Amino acid sequence: MSERTPIVAGNWKMNTTQAEGRAWVEAFVKELPEGQPGVEIAVCPPFTGLATVAEALGDYPAVVMSQTIHDEPKGAHTGEVSAAMVRATGARGTILGHSERRAAGETDEMVANRVRAALDAGLFVILCCGESLEQREAGETEAWVSKQVRAGLRAISHEWTDRLALAYEPIWAIGTGKTATPEMAQETCAQVRAAAAGFIDASRVRVLYGGSVNAENAADLMAQPDIDGGLVGGASLDPAGFATIVRAAAP
Ligand code: PGA
Repeated sequence: MSERTPIVAGNWKMNTTQAEGRAWVEAFVKELPEGQPGVEIAVCPPFTGLATVAEALGDYPAVVMSQTIHDEPKGAHTGEVSAAMVRATGARGTILGHSERRAAGETDEMVANRVRAALDAGLFVILCCGESLEQREAGETEAWVSKQVRAGLRAISHEWTDRLALAYEPIWAIGTGKTATPEMAQETCAQVRAAAAGFIDASRVRVLYGGSVNAENAADLMAQPDIDGGLVGGASLDPAGFATIVRAAAP
């Protein structure tokens, strides 16, 4: 068992109104009234839900994070939201470099700038990487995810290690119900960790797995030595199912 405290983060993507976010918190707190000792819990609603969910959580031991931020502090960027704006909602962190954002045009350089902007604004960062099915079949997984990690951490050094986590999310496993096997997830999470060496303290950084994590497969994934929690999409929308995943990550 590693010394690293696991993180389980629910990525709600483009789901939940403010009322639905509040109802989710109410139901989740009933499932796990004290939170889960030994596990850091995060929920990532759309921008519109950040303040509401943060307020609904109150003192409950879980934090709110956004799903991205823009790298500029302010200006003519229609539709974008800055790190400081996210922070002012009561959110404590942000996901960055999610494959759905990369598919919509976020480049490695933009991701690196956003990592730096988020950290500078006091936000925790979950930096995502992951390969396509074609890349996996061509044997390019390690080279690809390593490149994404190195690029994302370009402007970062050791002192930031505890302020960020890495998430390995194979694109072919996201929202498809096709989870990587625990062995496959372990192998690539270890490679992701290795890629972070030289930028941050690789032995200390938390590496999460994401991609069709659910209440049934979570325990086997979390048991892997280099997997320190999960980034959970679809299954996080169900408070009871998400609570089961959080319990599965407990040491
Ligand atoms: P999924 O999404 O759990 O629905 O596969 C994970 C993610 O994209 O973060």
